[in-house]
Amino acid sequence: MQWTEKHRPKYSKEIQGQNEAIAKIKNFVENFYLGKLTKTKKKALVLHGPPGIGKTTLAHAIARETNSEIFELNASDLRNKLKLKEILKPAIEQQSLIKKGKIILVDEVDGISAADRGGLTELLSLITLTNFPIIITANDIWNAKLSGLRKKAELVNLKEVDYNTIKDVMINILRKENHFINNNILTKIAIKSRGDLRAAINDLQTISSIKDPTENLIDERKKEIDIFNALRLVFKGKPTDETLRIYDSVKMPIDNIILWVEENVPLEYQKKELKRAYDLISKVDVFKKRIYRQQYWRFLVYKNILLSYGISSSKEDIKTGFTNYNKPTRILKIWLNNQKTFKKKSIAKKYARKVHVGEKRIMNEFPVIRNILKNPEVRRELRLSDEEIAYLDKPI
Ligand SMILES: Nc1ncnc2c1ncn2[C@@H]1O[C@H](COP(=O)(O)OP(=O)(O)OP(=O)(O)O)[C@@H](O)[C@H]1O
Ligand SMILES: [Mg+2]
Repeated sequence: MQWTEKHRPKYSKEIQGQNEAIAKIKNFVENFYLGKLTKTKKKALVLHGPPGIGKTTLAHAIARETNSEIFELNASDLRNKLKLKEILKPAIEQQSLIKKGKIILVDEVDGISAADRGGLTELLSLITLTNFPIIITANDIWNAKLSGLRKKAELVNLKEVDYNTIKDVMINILRKENHFINNNILTKIAIKSRGDLRAAINDLQTISSIKDPTENLIDERKKEIDIFNALRLVFKGKPTDETLRIYDSVKMPIDNIILWVEENVPLEYQKKELKRAYDLISKVDVFKKRIYRQQYWRFLVYKNILLSYGISSSKEDIKTGFTNYNKPTRILKIWLNNQKTFKKKSIAKKYARKVHVGEKRIMNEFPVIRNILKNPEVRRELRLSDEEIAYLDKPI
């Protein structure tokens, strides 16, 4: 289980480094319920700030503490104006039967694209009508498409968590997990996370799963940060001009990026989306071959387009939430496979020289020759190495 979920704070007092914001949001919800809301007060509150600092967690914690149920919407619910009205209108009007509060949570509102603005307009008009507090989360509240929302809602800014606090949270988690990691590594993780606690906890979990981790390991992982962000934008975001250039900023050859995309696309896309994406990846592969064979370097640009904009537009809906992307495993498999044929080849070479036939023929007839190679005298004669002998003795 992911540590970010397992150790997600349940109560606001466990949320670190956000005291000011916690007080504001509590105030907002309590005033709302007490009916202290004057006409000038806002009926919605936007929690905004960078990723992984506790926005979603805080909304849920406040609901728990004010004995409210949560009615949650995400960006894809906002895409369709009519659908939004259908879902949200009854929710904001209806009183809950058992006198319990209710908080409407619109998570990650900036996931909505400028093109689907209808839903956003609808949300704004529902804010005027609501009987329940609406909490909205956003990364970038200053985006032009959210200007209407800025006027209608109280804005609460959550800041990046400072690095000492990040270290405290990590130490706490390690204590609960009964695990130890040396202080220098913790410092490195904390600095690298740049205030993003989710990123820090994810790194911490990865590092904890490695035996004898070193500080260098974290530096290596730093390089991968760019690819994680790039994948996130491609898989989750709406395809734009920016998507087209996305891999330019990733310090990684495009052929490696193909492997990353291939490895992680099933984590994000389903059914038809996945089929379209795999179809594109296979086209990318075709171009790759043509580039190598015919040196048609101009195909390179197609590879890039298919892999960025193409993959991005294969999805049906904007994706929200966090996905922990994996390192490609295929390279490793290819390498292991090569390792295997590598030994077979070296044995075939020695045998071929001895019996004066071609190495290729020996490779083809290897299953038969294997039997001959069981004889210890033959092995000695060929001067097979220990590894080669181990290879032969391994059950096929
Ligand atoms: N202030 C915090 N104190 C303790 N843990 C935190 C804090 N902020 C984040 N976390 C940890 O990071 C995880 C992710 O936090 P959360 O989902 O609240 O981020 P977010 O601000 O909503 O990010 P995003 O903008 O990407 O949605 C939590 O499950 C929790 O484990
Ligand atoms: Mg969130």
